[in-house]
Amino acid sequence: MKKIMLVCGARPNFMKIAPIVAAIRKSGKMTPFILHTGQHYDEKMSKSFFDLLEIPKPNIDLEVGSGSHAEQTARIMIAFEKVCIAEKPDLVMVVGDVNSTLACTITAKKLWIPVAHVEAGLRSFDMRMPEEINRLVTDSICDLFFTTDPEANENLRKAGVEGDKIHFAGNVMIDSLLRNRATAEKNSILEEAGVEKGRYCLLTMHRPSNVDDPLILGRLLDAVDSIQKRIRVVFPAHPRTMGMIEKSGFGAKVKAMTNVHFRDPTDYHQTLKLNANCRFVITDSGGLQEETTSLGIPCITIRENTERPVTETVGTNEVVGTSTERIMDAVDRILAGKWKKGGIPEGWDGRAGERIVAVTEAFLGAAAPAENRAAVLA
Ligand code: UD1
Repeated sequence: MKKIMLVCGARPNFMKIAPIVAAIRKSGKMTPFILHTGQHYDEKMSKSFFDLLEIPKPNIDLEVGSGSHAEQTARIMIAFEKVCIAEKPDLVMVVGDVNSTLACTITAKKLWIPVAHVEAGLRSFDMRMPEEINRLVTDSICDLFFTTDPEANENLRKAGVEGDKIHFAGNVMIDSLLRNRATAEKNSILEEAGVEKGRYCLLTMHRPSNVDDPLILGRLLDAVDSIQKRIRVVFPAHPRTMGMIEKSGFGAKVKAMTNVHFRDPTDYHQTLKLNANCRFVITDSGGLQEETTSLGIPCITIRENTERPVTETVGTNEVVGTSTERIMDAVDRILAGKWKKGGIPEGWDGRAGERIVAVTEAFLGAAAPAENRAAVLA
């Protein structure tokens, strides 16, 4: 049986690999090998996702941990090369746009191992985002491209990728959402946060461009202060955000916002329940922009751009930037009931994982460079 190595490393990767692993096991034609790079390692950023999403324990955890981009990427590449040489996978599958995605793609390709990229072709056209660099490099060298958004197909074609390598698969993250929606309702996060259905806003932010600059972080916290005077805010904070709030001296400012439930990161089911039951979401996350669209929940994106345009053209998302006025204008429109309704994008139907696995099986059946790979891996 062909061995497919699934790479994951950071929080947004886990809900993307879960449906793919499930579909591989159901089909029974390939052997899945799960590789965790260890980019995220806290219980709440990693292990809890494996448990709730019923992903088998990783076959290998590289345990690379945190560091600068170069340090983290290099550590993953050094460790991943050894694993590829020992395990000889027939294909490496990477998801999303994190440093683990980039590091494992470069390493595998230099060993002539084919690489499939799930969530290929997304572009923010903002080279200040580390994720944009990860996307561009990954998509410039991989072999199979699975897309979630029609514009992603366009972006890849414009970059010269041959059409038969691009497969519009739909959205695996939404596979996980639909599969977990009912179970997620059972947890008690609303009681824990002291909120009622439809009467609070869910806030997340962790992008370096938002939280690492005290000026922008301060401006965003001013907006949060205004919002919490109008509606209760639930704010699960990424470790980076927690750290920057303390480091920039905003700890007291946040504590003084009495209508904000500020807490450590929520697990997958808690986040899903908070998202599905809130009045609206404010976020800089890529995943939440998509999840709100699937759930029909209004989403205010506090960034200058999005690599997921279908969430705006079809879904409930609006990208407003980081100025307090624009954020408050969007909040006003939501609270006045003047927000668009939104629809469900094509292929966001819970079956993306199955489609990805079917195409990959066909690709591996047809691919014949095994003798070349064997030479490199020998
Ligand atoms: C990474 C991804 C980002 C994704 C985000 C989701 C890249 C370039 N960025 O950003 O696209 O949206 O994950 O969370 O890959 N930390 C912990 N515990 C952890 C992990 C991180 O405390 O388990 C802290 C460390 O201080 C670390 C910092 O968070 O230095 C940043 O972690 P890192 O993996 O470098 O990037 P993220 O900001 O999480």
